[in-house]
Amino acid sequence: MCGIIGYTGHRPALPIVLEGLEHLEYRGYDSAGVGYVLNKELTVVRTKGKLKNLRDAVSTTGSALTVTCAIGHTRWATHGIPEERNAHPHVCADKSLAIVHNGIIENYLEIKEELLAAGYSFYSDTDTEVLVNLIHFLRAKENDLLGAFSKALARANGTYAVCLIDVSNPGTLYAARKSAPLILGRGVGESFIASDVPAFLAYTREVVFLEDGEILVAEPEKHTIYRIADGCTVKRSSQLIQWGMQAAQKGGYRHFMLKEIFEQPRVLKDCLTGRINAQGNIVLPELENVAPPNRIHIIACGTSYHAGLWGQHLLEDLAQIPVSVEIASEFRYKERFLPDKNDLVLVISQSGETADTLAALERAKKEKIATLGLCNVVGSSLAREADTVIYTQAGPEISVASTKAMTSQMLMLCTLALFFARKKGLIDKRQRTLAKTLSSLAVLLEAQLPNMHRRAQSLARKYAEARSFFYLGRGHCFPLALEGALKLKELSYIHAEGYAAGEMKHGPIALIDSAFPTFVLAMNDSLYPKIRSNVVEIQSREGHIIALTNPETDIDVDDRWEIPRIIDPLQAFLILPCLQLFSYEMADFLGKDVDQPRNLAKSVTVE
Ligand code: F6R
Repeated sequence: MCGIIGYTGHRPALPIVLEGLEHLEYRGYDSAGVGYVLNKELTVVRTKGKLKNLRDAVSTTGSALTVTCAIGHTRWATHGIPEERNAHPHVCADKSLAIVHNGIIENYLEIKEELLAAGYSFYSDTDTEVLVNLIHFLRAKENDLLGAFSKALARANGTYAVCLIDVSNPGTLYAARKSAPLILGRGVGESFIASDVPAFLAYTREVVFLEDGEILVAEPEKHTIYRIADGCTVKRSSQLIQWGMQAAQKGGYRHFMLKEIFEQPRVLKDCLTGRINAQGNIVLPELENVAPPNRIHIIACGTSYHAGLWGQHLLEDLAQIPVSVEIASEFRYKERFLPDKNDLVLVISQSGETADTLAALERAKKEKIATLGLCNVVGSSLAREADTVIYTQAGPEISVASTKAMTSQMLMLCTLALFFARKKGLIDKRQRTLAKTLSSLAVLLEAQLPNMHRRAQSLARKYAEARSFFYLGRGHCFPLALEGALKLKELSYIHAEGYAAGEMKHGPIALIDSAFPTFVLAMNDSLYPKIRSNVVEIQSREGHIIALTNPETDIDVDDRWEIPRIIDPLQAFLILPCLQLFSYEMADFLGKDVDQPRNLAKSVTVE
């Protein structure tokens, strides 16, 4: 949520900051801005709407070319509607400081009251303008920016990542974070600060991860990290990012989402590399010393939550471990959490920065329960906070709608279930077949994707006028139905609901008529006869049906969409891309902004 970039070095800063913002636009895109010091004066340019408007408004020629330090921001509104006056950077009363901010300062109203009483005026509805004026206020007392910055941050409740510039020290960036990502990129004679690595990956792969409770002071040649609590400096070594710029570009695809759907065979391969040994057993060195838990509590949000629901079936079925799955925003505030000391809390998050998921993790840690993080982003907050981390290795996911990350999460959940099953001595013939089939999934999916894409295209054209959709599934297909509905609504803004097919007659079927189509997951499995009956019930109410099914079934519907039959529950790895492609094609056909759907942002760092 909100993208931050700061640059100080030897190159013209504005083109670098604008380029960085382009790579961060997935985090928020309702307004954007840049700030820099030129001729001892602070200049701020802000525009409403997409980044293109900012590009048109910012001059990168003439004297602007001499600017070698700047900050930039792309916004996802929390406080104040998307208007120029609410866009970042925000400046303090005497225009000596400018700040960009991601997150929420929860006690900003209380601080604002105090500053109003001290004579300050405000021109936006944001918490950010309050923060920069608080820093200004505290600095006026002591004439020490670092001290004022520390005190202001100590006063601010909530979550934040901020980057600050000061007119009297124009080549220096000041930054801090609390439960929101902020990364330093170290180049030769230049420093970058950003919410995410792609913002500066074209210039350096050397990164330093900032921790909560620290202040970073970055200059072209060096950087220093201070602990807010005692002002002491902190030594932290840098790390090298393993993936390159190519992974963060569209690579000839129309949209990032399409590219990421088509990357899924590669993701399956990468996730499995080194995870199956010569005997066909799953290897998870991260967990070699962890005993199979008595119970697992899976906690996540959105698509990651759906992956968790799917994983529940496998962990219960294969490893015979009881599993509960909870939405992080519910779990974090539930009155009682009564875990056993041998339980495991498994938090799943693509970004590793989702505020509710991190809060849930913190709660589990307070209860002294072992925590395992399933996460895609190396160095993310979740990866650092969980007792143990398994990386899902999907590579950077840029499209706001999650696709390949879910595939990677499901694959790792499957390996986890097989791993605990082996540890419990539960491996049988079926489980060996599952492990073997895992290795062939990538090739199978790769061969199917072009056909799937074509079928999705033709169906999208036929159903594009629908205003509502049901998605139905049973058993391990039910979480996939939920995910299919989520994808359709977030991308094409068509109302869609995922249901357990057997629930339809308990109310929802009242909605069915000839204008309300249903997308059914009707695989040739043990539940097939049940789902076929549910389909007939819908057809009796004139409902139109798309059935994703296997060639062997006899389901007679408006549109059969056949995919090869593979062993349950691995069938999911062919179902999911079909659901993703259908939503993608619907949205694209309807002219929606596929990679950046309205009102959304990739990394939800506020609650
Ligand atoms: C939907 C989507 C979201 C995320 C959710 C959790 O396409 O992307 O529902 O899955 O915001 O995000 P992570 O997995 O980063 O915690």
